[in-house]
Amino acid sequence: MARKRSVSPTKAGPQATSGAQALALDANPAWLNAIRKNLVSWYQNHQRDLPWRADHDPYRILVSEMMLVQTTVAAVIPYFARFMARFPTVQDLASAPAADVLKAWEGLGYYRRARLLHAAAQAVVERHGGQFPRSRAELEALPGIGRYIAGAVASFAFDLPEAILEANTQRLLARLIAWPGELGKTPTQKRLWSVAEALVPDKQPGDFNQALMDLGATICLPRNPLCLLCPLAEQCEARQQGLQQTLPLKAARQAPLVSREVGVLAVRQNQLLLARRSPGQLWEEFWEIPTMHESGADPAGRVRLDGSEGDLIQAVRLATGLTITPGNALREFKYSVTRHAVTLQVVSGAVVKGVVEPGPGYAELRWVNLDDVVTFTLSAVNRQVLAWLQKDEAWRNLPPGEEPQARPKSRKKTSS
Ligand code: ADE
Repeated sequence: MARKRSVSPTKAGPQATSGAQALALDANPAWLNAIRKNLVSWYQNHQRDLPWRADHDPYRILVSEMMLVQTTVAAVIPYFARFMARFPTVQDLASAPAADVLKAWEGLGYYRRARLLHAAAQAVVERHGGQFPRSRAELEALPGIGRYIAGAVASFAFDLPEAILEANTQRLLARLIAWPGELGKTPTQKRLWSVAEALVPDKQPGDFNQALMDLGATICLPRNPLCLLCPLAEQCEARQQGLQQTLPLKAARQAPLVSREVGVLAVRQNQLLLARRSPGQLWEEFWEIPTMHESGADPAGRVRLDGSEGDLIQAVRLATGLTITPGNALREFKYSVTRHAVTLQVVSGAVVKGVVEPGPGYAELRWVNLDDVVTFTLSAVNRQVLAWLQKDEAWRNLPPGEEPQARPKSRKKTSS
């Protein structure tokens, strides 16, 4: 299609297509039809073979979409296979204990998704007799299901002409119309949803949406889009204007919220003290070594500490009911969760006296055999701490009150 190419190729912003011009584009039937036709024929030869596309089961599609939020396809594939083997139907998931669902999700991060998926499965069973509702509105009424996931389930499972918009399609559509606004902003989101709606065809809308995703993921790449291989290069306004490297505009990254915490390894013979986080807190129901908060914000409501040894003893007493003699600072672990960049300092603590009693942030404390810790649901950083601990025989068979020796520090970074 012949269109003006009046814009400087180097900068977005004022030079890029204005909203009014963009509106004209997706009101243009020839432009819409060319995109549909080119995309569908590209998809026939280039679609990705993904396990959740093997059939049109809405339950499998919902599980995959919940896993894919903020997570790559490659990371999700093994989790998806294990999860489906463990909970093959929506009824299996609905009737499972929450701890089993979290265990199956362990390592995938963003555990709120697992809790919401569990609640959605229960709602499908309770409200809809185990059959997924077939309209977008009813799907959106399920816990944790927003417009994107409702559109994905409606179009992939039921072939309803509902639009989708996720990270890959946002980028692709923003380039198609050379949208000059920042991606995260509300006017941008509104605009891109309306383009997605204008594009989705009545015929095979599910394939069309998946084709958009695949093109975004494999060709319309964030940094160096492969425009020479793109079936939509002719229809792409950013490409026509030479702005494909510049658009879409992203908001500046927010600075991380830095914090420090101290975790205590209280070991007696072959056992280690673990704490379960309270309901209603970040990572509720997860187990960890008793951990105090030293600086920065703590979204988990645990005991605060200001760093001196006396305070550590008091803080541990408040958090666990036990009096300890703080020992060596053994090792630091760094991890990140949402915007928090956290350093966890692990110290040894010989138990002097006391009876275990969970303090702020904790629902339960338990002495656990070192060989059994794998059966507990742990955050990524606590899995690292315990894997490190299990490797060292010196930790086993410690008499009560005796503390292990420090080992060299390591600064390995983890993410949760
Ligand atoms: N990202 C989010 N949903 C996806 C899907 N169904 N297939 C591939 N990538 C995705």
